[in-house]
Amino acid sequence: MSDIKATVVDHPLIQHKLTIMRKKDTPSKDFRQLLEEIAMLMTYEVTRDFPLEEIDIETPVAKCKAKVLAGKKVGVVPILRAGLGLLSGVVNMIPSARVGHVGMYRDPATLKPVEYYCKLPGDVAERTLIVVDPMLATGGSAAAALTLLKEKGAKNIILMCLVAAPEGIKVINEEHPDVPVYVAAIDECLNEKGYIVPGLGDAGDRIFGTL
Ligand code: PRP
Ligand code: URA
Repeated sequence: MSDIKATVVDHPLIQHKLTIMRKKDTPSKDFRQLLEEIAMLMTYEVTRDFPLEEIDIETPVAKCKAKVLAGKKVGVVPILRAGLGLLSGVVNMIPSARVGHVGMYRDPATLKPVEYYCKLPGDVAERTLIVVDPMLATGGSAAAALTLLKEKGAKNIILMCLVAAPEGIKVINEEHPDVPVYVAAIDECLNEKGYIVPGLGDAGDRIFGTL
């Protein structure tokens, strides 16, 4: 795995919640709740290097200098459908973020991504975009979404996924070396159907109960 580059956010709370999500008998209600909670925890790490600036404020006790986020504004871009499962967790942590949507589904026969929707904030070039999708399998969907966002003007993008296959990370590293990748786990491999092993199955179906 030395040839792939991704930050694994391996906080014990995240790993515990992810294990429950992986279990095949975990119901959709719990799966959705845990995904939202993990998204909040991962946002903490994804935003760790965001720059701060000092401003003058007045507390009830005294005037002082205090830190606030500086720099670019944030946009969150879920890759439909399953990316929606991470959205509320990120926006809970960054309430001022604008939200864009990119619709991609993976053709089950070819495993190639098919784009069907794109709606982004107008000022996408001025924002740091956090692209969210629980699963990074072949990497095709995320790579296509990143290419699309760059064509629309995005310059500063972070990719945040829950579970990744080494193959998917490699594709993002090669096609989008400027995009940092954050994941909660790097699994073993892909199976013949392009599912992550051991993974957690079809994330979209488990979030929305469409199994
Ligand atoms: C899943 C997942 C990713 C993609 C990953 O979406 O949410 O978008 O597959 O696979 P890849 O890395 O091989 O492209 P899916 O196509 O099942 O659509 P959905 O989100 O609508 O369920
Ligand atoms: N998409 C999913 O939802 N799960 C996988 O394991 C691979 C792609």
